[in-house]
Amino acid sequence: MARSRNAFRVEDADRRRTGVPDCRAIRLALAVCVAAIGLAGCQRSAAADRIGDPRAGAIAIDRMACGSCHRIPGIEEADGSVGPPLAHFASRQMIAGVLANSPQALVRYLEAPQEVVAGNVMPNEGLGDRQARDIAAYLYTLR
Ligand code: HEC
Repeated sequence: MARSRNAFRVEDADRRRTGVPDCRAIRLALAVCVAAIGLAGCQRSAAADRIGDPRAGAIAIDRMACGSCHRIPGIEEADGSVGPPLAHFASRQMIAGVLANSPQALVRYLEAPQEVVAGNVMPNEGLGDRQARDIAAYLYTLR
């Protein structure tokens, strides 16, 4: 009696070994794929979400009149041409041509542009850390 029950279990386990692991492997591969695609596409914007609040950033950009010097999509009357247009900022490799584009570097640049590129016209607007983070978060919505 005990033996036959064991035999049944072995058979059952065999069936499981042949069927279920394949399925699991496929599911795992799919999960890895989805995660990889998500990461590649959203890495910078995910980091940006953590760095600040894009809606507060848009308001700050409007108040600080960044648009008097920059063309900035989504900000009313931001059509200045003194500085470079900020469209597709999330896709840019560099900030001001000298810093690798990352949320941390952008916040640092916004807080003290003259420290990064001395003598350029981009003014130090005296942005607080929170404001600089929110503005950075908005700029990273521009893909
Ligand atoms: C008086 C004009 C002026 C104002 C106002 C101004 N900027 Fe700039 N900004 C510039 C110039 C000029 C550059 C280019 C600097 C360089 O490349 O050396 C620049 C560069 C930048 C860059 C880097 C652009 C790139 O292509 O890498 C960002 C981001 C930026 N500004 C954001 C802002 C934000 C946000 C504000 C408002 C808080 C602002 N700027 C206000 C003139 C201005």
